[in-house]
Amino acid sequence: MQNDSTNQRLEQHLRRLVDSSSAGTRLPTTRSLVTEFAVSPVTVQRVVQRLAQAGLVETRPGTGTFVARPRLLARSDFSWQTTALGPARNSSTAVGTAMALNAPDAIAMHSGYPAEELLPTRLVRSALTRAARGSSAVDRPPVAGLGALRAWFANDLNAAAEDRSSGISADDVIIVPGTQSALTSIFRALAQPGDAVVMESPTYWGAIAAAHQAGLVIVPIARGAAAPTAEALDKALAASGARLFYAQPNFANPTGALWSAEQTRALLDVARARNAFVIDDDWAHDFGIDADARPIIADDTDGHVVYLRSLTKSVSSSLRVGAVVARGPALARIQVDRTVTDLYISGTLQAAAVDVVTDPGWRSHLVRLRSQLRQRRDTLAHAVGSQLGADTLTSLPKGGLNLWLRFDDRVDAGALAARCLAAGLAVAPGTEWFPTEPPGSFLRLNFSGPRPERFDEAVGILAAALAAS
Ligand SMILES: Cc1ncc(COP(=O)(O)O)c(C=O)c1O
Repeated sequence: MQNDSTNQRLEQHLRRLVDSSSAGTRLPTTRSLVTEFAVSPVTVQRVVQRLAQAGLVETRPGTGTFVARPRLLARSDFSWQTTALGPARNSSTAVGTAMALNAPDAIAMHSGYPAEELLPTRLVRSALTRAARGSSAVDRPPVAGLGALRAWFANDLNAAAEDRSSGISADDVIIVPGTQSALTSIFRALAQPGDAVVMESPTYWGAIAAAHQAGLVIVPIARGAAAPTAEALDKALAASGARLFYAQPNFANPTGALWSAEQTRALLDVARARNAFVIDDDWAHDFGIDADARPIIADDTDGHVVYLRSLTKSVSSSLRVGAVVARGPALARIQVDRTVTDLYISGTLQAAAVDVVTDPGWRSHLVRLRSQLRQRRDTLAHAVGSQLGADTLTSLPKGGLNLWLRFDDRVDAGALAARCLAAGLAVAPGTEWFPTEPPGSFLRLNFSGPRPERFDEAVGILAAALAAS
């Protein structure tokens, strides 16, 4: 760990030097870096080699290492592709700000991936070591996923159902390489290009992009304080003929809002009456703070709910393991799409995932995580309230990883985010979470990134950028 972080510091140091120096500048010698960072010459050479492979530096044997000169750009003629390809399903801006990797010294509140101290890192490392030694390192797993992992997802859902009798079995579960690709599969498997899909607005940018990718037309309904009204859903389904309603009943990304039990019942009644599916994206299942997530599939016995659960953010962003739960012909259609797309998911990653979540340490990790998230949320909410005014925070979320801020309607959220980034703070403009025109000016602040001790400083940067708006 110590070595890893020293190597990272060394690499960041060299990258900063490269960024701030002109081409041809000589970088410090191996010997001086060895002394400054207390590492071996081999370590320095490895880091330099990485930067050379990335085209950032040039090594001249016997002379030293220099900031690389920009190569002359080859200017090929790709213009024929513009005509050949025709209209795009998704614009190139479909990928959200949340996926950007920014300068290492920027305060990162734009992304949705929790910092290492919020992950069960020790469990993950030992699970990966065990998985690499076991048969999963070479065996081909079943197309629907490892039985033990499917059973764990089913049992965990049944446990969350409390007195409700969902009766999910392992056979209802398909393991997926993260739920993003599952969204595309569900849209493709349960609808035809040109069909409508109803979505809460605002909602997850990746669901918006996946629906476009599948050729669907998004029919937005306002989310309201916690959930859309049953009347709004009924009207949208009736007017558009949509058979799909994509929703985030628990700690929605970006607002953090939570459907109540009554709202869930009313919305499910509408879906039943209209012969529609509700896609319950339970992305924040493990991130309850003042409440537990209530998977709405527990209230469904006849296959109206298609449920999604991801371990990417709660176990490790490198494991990329999640699950889809569905019943009836819908399950079979989704399975066909998954198999055609991926055949099967890495057995090594599945074995490691099941190892982590069945370890007794997983439960204690979740308890610890809850209090870490509460502290981060409260610290950030306090900084926002005191520096930007209490009405900037739309509500204090009972779970999830984000605060959803609203500004004066005249503030251009994209320009505000760009000003923040220039001042060393990465944030995500709210525009990305609306499937249609945003009804105001919003920003998402993620409180699960590294260095929460910089929250006050971060909000200070935001306040200054806002003042300049
Ligand atoms: C609401 C929501 N759904 C789905 C996903 C996709 O998650 P993954 O592919 O990591 O499972 C994300 C990721 O940010 C998300 O925020």
